[in-house]
Amino acid sequence: MAHSQSGGPAILVEGLVKSFGEVRALRGIDLSVPRGTVLGVLGPNGAGKTTAVRILTTLLRPDGGRALVEGRDVVREAAAVRRSIGLAGQSAAIQLELTGRENLEIIGRLYHLSWPRARSRAIELLRQFELTDAADRAAKNFSGGMQRRLDLAASLVGQPKVLFLDEPTTGLDPRSRLAMWDTIRSLVAGGTTLLLTTQYMDEADELADQIVVIDHGEVIAAGTAEELKGRVGGDIVEFTVPDRARVGDAVAAIATIGEGEPHADAETGVVSVGVGGQGSDALIEVVRGLDKADVQTHGLTLRRPSLDDVFLALTGHAAEEEEADQPAGRRGRRKAKSKAADKETARTAS
Ligand SMILES: Nc1ncnc2c1ncn2[C@@H]1O[C@H](COP(=O)(O)OP(=O)(O)OP(=O)(O)O)[C@@H](O)[C@H]1O
Ligand SMILES: [Mg+2]
Repeated sequence: MAHSQSGGPAILVEGLVKSFGEVRALRGIDLSVPRGTVLGVLGPNGAGKTTAVRILTTLLRPDGGRALVEGRDVVREAAAVRRSIGLAGQSAAIQLELTGRENLEIIGRLYHLSWPRARSRAIELLRQFELTDAADRAAKNFSGGMQRRLDLAASLVGQPKVLFLDEPTTGLDPRSRLAMWDTIRSLVAGGTTLLLTTQYMDEADELADQIVVIDHGEVIAAGTAEELKGRVGGDIVEFTVPDRARVGDAVAAIATIGEGEPHADAETGVVSVGVGGQGSDALIEVVRGLDKADVQTHGLTLRRPSLDDVFLALTGHAAEEEEADQPAGRRGRRKAKSKAADKETARTAS
């Protein structure tokens, strides 16, 4: 094989294309993930994140372009790719009737570990994921957070060099999310390359070295979290209008201030506007404008842009709105999504 096994990036994707009938899920995606780093893939529902992950983990064939993992082609050298990767899909792939321990032991056997080795690997992972006490209970009696942890443990049985996590913390409570972040950080500190999809901007901010934002099957921005925030161009003025009927008046009152149009969420009454480098001058103008229009507000702040603002600026809608084609200017609240469809059952053993 001409590709170097040691020098190149852990993941290299060029012009990846995939359609499902009329739906063009991926329209030519390029990615490069250096070894030992974390790539965060951000995108709204239907952007193509899971499709990309499924192609990279050999579960789905692309229509065009190519993808290499550890220098191996995901189509032509699928078996070799499978040996070097781990996947925790968007829906947990654990067997609910089996205990936590049995789940891990069986996967160990799929990876051709001897029984004693499969057993000791299971014990190690149960300990690492704080599941030792629950080890001999059926997974169906685990909490959602415990099932997610077991699923992540399962993806690590084969000690993968490259790990794919598709929305690893969706549906977890805040404490479990933080614990999951710690686990992910320690994996990366141990040298694992990670590709992580998420709809939580703070998660990408916390964990990713590089971020790509995809929307409608295309990469629309790439860079570090700081670089992307820099693209929003300066600070944000934000406030809440308690009387929701007056949100429109508030937007009109500040329409000429700052850069671009204000964003307003009719439901929560939160209004924000990018003010570039004008900072406190813009803040004063906003106060004057709202005062003149006689709109009451609370929580008026001037703040640095977050990745949420980046996402809003790039896509015209917030990250977790259900519809991909929301008009610009509507800001959605974060909500955990239910994921009945999209079952990812294949485990990536060879
Ligand atoms: N097996 C399939 N058959 C038909 N259409 C599909 C299939 N898988 C995905 N799609 C479509 O491809 C597009 C991209 O889907 P994908 O699951 O990759 O999005 P995603 O970014 O993972 O979204 P989410 O955040 O909701 O998980 C969507 O329009 C989806 O409906
Ligand atoms: Mg998905």
